[in-house]
Amino acid sequence: MRILFATSEARPLIKTGGLADVSGALPAALRAIGLDCRVLLPGYPAVLAGARQARPVSRLDGLAGGTVATLLEATMPENGTPLYILDAPELFQREGGPYQDVAGHDHPDNVLRFAVFSQVAARLACSDTPLSWHPEVLHCNDWQTGLAPAYLRLAGHATPTVMTVHNLAYQGIFPPEDMTTVDLPAESFSLNGVEYYGSLSFLKAGLYYADRLTTVSPSYAEEIRLPALGMGMQGLLTTRGDELVGILNGIDTVEWNAASDVHLPYTYTSRALAGKSQCKLKLQQDLNLEPGRDTPLFGVIARLANQKGLDLVLAVAEGILHRGGQIALLGTGEKTLEAAFHDLCAQHPGRVAAVIGYDEGLSHRIEAGSDIFLMPSRFEPCGLNQLYSLRYGTVPIVHATGGLKDTVEDGVTGFVFHEPTPHALWLAVDRALHAYTDPKAWKRMMRAGMSRDFSWEKSAREYETLYRGLVG
Ligand code: ADP
Ligand code: GLC
Repeated sequence: MRILFATSEARPLIKTGGLADVSGALPAALRAIGLDCRVLLPGYPAVLAGARQARPVSRLDGLAGGTVATLLEATMPENGTPLYILDAPELFQREGGPYQDVAGHDHPDNVLRFAVFSQVAARLACSDTPLSWHPEVLHCNDWQTGLAPAYLRLAGHATPTVMTVHNLAYQGIFPPEDMTTVDLPAESFSLNGVEYYGSLSFLKAGLYYADRLTTVSPSYAEEIRLPALGMGMQGLLTTRGDELVGILNGIDTVEWNAASDVHLPYTYTSRALAGKSQCKLKLQQDLNLEPGRDTPLFGVIARLANQKGLDLVLAVAEGILHRGGQIALLGTGEKTLEAAFHDLCAQHPGRVAAVIGYDEGLSHRIEAGSDIFLMPSRFEPCGLNQLYSLRYGTVPIVHATGGLKDTVEDGVTGFVFHEPTPHALWLAVDRALHAYTDPKAWKRMMRAGMSRDFSWEKSAREYETLYRGLVG
């Protein structure tokens, strides 16, 4: 079965969050169970620089904004997954991140950039494709690919499409005038189409036109049918409820393996945990924290965004320190949160470390070196860091939402609290600190988490079943 997996990020080439982890690993997992899954990415500088054996296969024209582009064929580094790259230099070869410039402002032409990307995904999946490889299913991910199902349907093509929502909070919303930029028929700007509260929404387009909708955990698939987390799409998602499923993300168990992780100073397994204590001491040293084997060390790694509930971490921080704990945070994002963690660190030298920035190696060292991982997200479609924590014997404290609720077992592999309030988080922290004083019970908990299987195979089989249901 041939699947085209269209995504705007895939590690190790380009990453801003969990979408990249999933897009780096799921296509390879699908290939491992016998599907011919290929990835389509925009030609960002990092993609062009890191892809293997890139060569042009076709010229693409007739795209929105008069864009002329080249389609490259290549392979992903590390796992060799076949890759197509949309090389459109005037859209994608620029400084800054995939969506924002160096100063942190959205690129002003994002509407055109991702309309063209969606158009190319649709073209590769329809009978007019310039390739000899014809996908049987087009799998789109998040708003950046949301227009692809609309382009296919509105042009009368029947190739089945899947739209996966990794985060309903990012919708690709643009003013109605942009309907002309994206080359969609004016009639599609309606409730039964791409219109969303008077604007054009790329994600809404995908949710309306795709044949099947998925999201990345069973709980989130339920939560987004209700106003609290439906972000205005709850009506549509409820109407399409029979076509919406939650398939839990897996993790890359080669990249995240404490027994062989190249980023760690020491390695360990659930039977031989000594290396984890050494990782902790080394982490304390590297981050200028007071050395202490028995000091409970709380790790936090996150995009500093409202979603992640980091204000709750700030609210309980003094309490953690008062009880003898330490905090090691790695993150980047909203300036006010960056400043608040920077201040906390300045006020408590040796007890709090706040690294503001993006650092993949350090994220592995914090996962390995911490005792406890804090993830009090207000909402979390799946979440990957709690899974990395479980696998690394770092006991997670999580809010009972989305994928956090589906993956952490309260009192067995971690601590789960039910209201996103400082008080509820504090009670969970208190329970964790209490449990930490009993080394035997604590080890049992670490090992319980380490024994859970979050590899991709099971989820890859669920995607396969979904695709087969579409192709017949
Ligand atoms: P989201 O996609 O909402 O950000 P996830 O938990 O699904 O949340 O995935 C986040 C991914 O990004 C994880 O792989 C995490 O380790 C990584 N990450 C987040 N912030 C940083 C950072 N500052 N440095 C390194 N990795 C980070
Ligand atoms: C999003 C979500 C996160 C999820 C990731 C990968 O960024 O916020 O919960 O794990 O996508 O699906």
